[in-house]
Amino acid sequence: MKIITVVGARPQFVKAAAVSRALTAFNKRNNNIYFEERIVHTGQHYDDNMSKVFFEELQIQSPSVNLEVGSGSHGHQSGVMLERIERILIEFKPELVLVYGDTNSTLAASLAASKLHIPVAHVEAGLRSFNRRMPEEINRVVTDHLSTILFCPTDVAVQNLAKEGITKDVHQVGDVMYDSVLFNSDLSGTSSNILKRLSLKNKSFYLATIHRAENTDNKARLEGILDAFNSIDVPIVLPLHPRTKKALGTKLGKFNNEVRIIDPVSYLDMLALEKHARIIFTDSGGVQKEAFWLGVPCITLRDETEWIELVHAGCNQIVGADTSAILEALLKAEAIVEHGFPSYTSDLYGDGCSSEKIAAILGKMGQISVS
Ligand code: UD1
Ligand code: UDP
Repeated sequence: MKIITVVGARPQFVKAAAVSRALTAFNKRNNNIYFEERIVHTGQHYDDNMSKVFFEELQIQSPSVNLEVGSGSHGHQSGVMLERIERILIEFKPELVLVYGDTNSTLAASLAASKLHIPVAHVEAGLRSFNRRMPEEINRVVTDHLSTILFCPTDVAVQNLAKEGITKDVHQVGDVMYDSVLFNSDLSGTSSNILKRLSLKNKSFYLATIHRAENTDNKARLEGILDAFNSIDVPIVLPLHPRTKKALGTKLGKFNNEVRIIDPVSYLDMLALEKHARIIFTDSGGVQKEAFWLGVPCITLRDETEWIELVHAGCNQIVGADTSAILEALLKAEAIVEHGFPSYTSDLYGDGCSSEKIAAILGKMGQISVS
C-alpha cells in the first residue's frame, strides 16, 4: 500500500514517529513490503529545534519532499500547502494519505487528498474543544468529515464523531503519543543531560509551555500568565515556542529571575524535563497528556480541553489565563504532589500499542476506497 504521510508541525513528528515504526515492523513481520510510506513535510515548522531535531532523535525517515511552506496567515499557509500537496499527490499517486492531529498541515493534506479521491486516514480523530474560535477545532472538524478511516484516541472522541454522524471505519485505538512516551522514556533518562545543563534537581522546579493563539494573541491573557509566573518563587523552566517569543517581544525582559526562558528543546530533553518537574503549566494538547503519563500534576492555561478524561481523573485543572485562578490551582497541584497523584482505574489512552493497532487495521483493509 503506497502511503503518503503529511506532517509539518512539532507534535506531528512525535506521532508519526510511532506509527512509521509500527508500519515498518508490520512489513518485517510479514516478510514483505506491504506498506510503502513516504513522508511529505509541509515546512510549517522549520527551525532546527522545531523540526530537524525530531527527525534525528526519533529516527524518522527523512522526508521525500519538504514543501517549504513556512509561516503566514491561515489562508496563505493553508492555501500554499493545498496547492503543493496536490501536486505531490498527483505525482506519487498514493493509495492512502495519513494525517495527524489538527494543524493547518492536516487540513491542507486532507482537503487535497479528498478532492483527488484518495482515502484519508486521520490519526487523533474525533477530538473536540467545542470552541470554533480555535483554528485547530476548524481543522479537526473538517478533517474528520473528509476522512475515510478515523483513528480515535479515546471513547469520548468516538462519541463526538457519532454525534456528527460519523460511525463508519471509526476505530478506538488509543493514543499514539502514549506509545512514544513509553518507547522514549528510558532513552530520555539515559541520553538527555538537560537537568545537569540547567542545574535542576528532581521535583525542584516547575515546567511551562505556552503557544496557543488564544494566549499569545491576547494581551490580557498573556499578561495574566506572565503575572502569575512572576509571583511564583520556585524556578519555572519555560522552553519558549517561537510564536510566544514573537508575541512577548519586549515583555520577555519582564519575567523575574525564577523564570528560566530557554529555546524549544528536543523531545528527549522535554520528556526529561516533564518527568522531573514538580508541576506542569501548559496550553499544549500533547503536554497535558505527557504530564499524566509521567505522573505530574498539570495546570492547563486554557478555557477548555479536548482531553477531558484528565480533568475527570483529577490530574489536570483547567484554569484559563487569570492570574489568581492560576495561583489557586497551583496550591491544589502542590497538595497533589504532597499527597500523591490520583489513582485511576482504567488506561485512559490505551495500552501503548496504538500504532501497532493502526498498522494492523490498515494491513487488513487491503484496497481502501472513498465511499
Ligand atoms: C501550530 C498549530 C498548533 C500546534 C502547534 C504545535 C495550526 C493552526 N496550529 O501552531 O495547532 O499546537 O503548531 O507547536 O496549524 N515559527 C518560527 N519557526 C518555526 C515555526 C514557527 O519562528 O519553525 C513562528 C512564526 O513566527 C510563525 C509562528 O511561529 O508565524 C506560528 O507558527 P505556526 O506554524 O503558524 O503555528 P503554531 O503556533 O506553531
Ligand atoms: N515538545 C518538545 N519540546 C518543546 C516543547 C514541546 O519536544 O520545547 C513536545 C512535547 O513533549 C509534545 C509535543 O512537543 O510531545 C507537543 O507539541 P506542542 O505543544 O507544540 O503542540 P500541541 O500538542 O499543543 O499541538
